[in-house]
Amino acid sequence: MKPYAENDIIDILNSDDLQVLQELLQSATKCRLENIGDKVYLRGLIEFSNYCDRNCFYCGLRKGNRQLKRYRLSKEEIVQTAMLAFNSGYHSICLQSGEIDSPLEIDFLVEVVEEIKELSQKADKDSKGLGITLSVGELSYHQYKRLWEAGAHRYLLRIETSVPQLFGRIHPPSQKFETRVECLRALKDIGYQTGTGVMIGLPGQTAEHLLQDLKFFQAEDVDMLGMGPYIPHRSAPLSKLSPEQQLDPYTTTLKMLALCRLLMPDINMVASTALQSINPQGLRMGLKAGANIVMPVLTPDDMRGNYYLYENKLYKKPQELVEEINSCGYTLGLWEWGDPLHYKRRIKVKVGDA
Ligand code: 5AD
Ligand code: SF4
Repeated sequence: MKPYAENDIIDILNSDDLQVLQELLQSATKCRLENIGDKVYLRGLIEFSNYCDRNCFYCGLRKGNRQLKRYRLSKEEIVQTAMLAFNSGYHSICLQSGEIDSPLEIDFLVEVVEEIKELSQKADKDSKGLGITLSVGELSYHQYKRLWEAGAHRYLLRIETSVPQLFGRIHPPSQKFETRVECLRALKDIGYQTGTGVMIGLPGQTAEHLLQDLKFFQAEDVDMLGMGPYIPHRSAPLSKLSPEQQLDPYTTTLKMLALCRLLMPDINMVASTALQSINPQGLRMGLKAGANIVMPVLTPDDMRGNYYLYENKLYKKPQELVEEINSCGYTLGLWEWGDPLHYKRRIKVKVGDA
């Protein structure tokens, strides 16, 4: 089956035939093994602060959620957690927080990145040190550039939905679709390995919207994708909306992962925590659908529970995740960065063109 025609994609996304899902997953597994092999790379996720300046209608960290206990890790705590990860074989970490953009917060993050790079390169002179991914929202070109120069080399910024009208329904008017697209382009221009993604199963989201998302990922030529099901959060206004129509978040996420693997065989793609939270088989099935990245949460125990994006967010110990990945027959890619093949090719083309 070659699900490349637009009509086929719409039919697949709308289908509730399990046979269709099975065949799609089989094709995605085959495609993944042929193109990027059986490795699964780990990214240690450090959720260093749950403060956020934004008010996305779906998210538990939104500024308007006064019930949430806010925290911010100190520089020492972040660096220590990162180095612990490095010394146990994670050669990539992701530093994530709610949206930050005050000059002081950027200065803080620049220092953190510089210190992690310096210490990890010193600790293992034969390696390039820790690979650092950032996910801290919409910043200015200059701020992205400062963080790049400090040593971060990947950035995740989800578009959430590539359909401007739907984007407008799940964000306050001050948050603009166009700004997010501009940010993604700035990141790529600076040189970051750039990742985006969408939520799946949003109220009012249709197969046609998801097809548009697939086209958006291709048009923006992204290196990485992080997609997951939308899961309501009781303190976020979107949870009060009774959906007039809703695609099944779990199976539709699996289909979107598989379609992305088939359409973009050499990108890196995450089996997200949301996918694992919504179904106990989420990790196994996400890998089957072509995901090759897992992000174990390394946020210290006493803070972790407060990074509560949606209801029933799952926490699994890193060791449990490793065992699960092994038991599915994949090879763990430890002690290496695991950059997306897509990025390596993209850069080569750029150099060749010059
Ligand atoms: N359900 C699923 N994912 C969510 N996120 C935020 N709120 C939710 C939710 N209710 C995701 C968004 C965001 C990331 C930090 O978490 O996609 O980009
Ligand atoms: Fe803040 Fe991100 Fe949540 Fe929006 S999705 S409220 S920017 S943490």
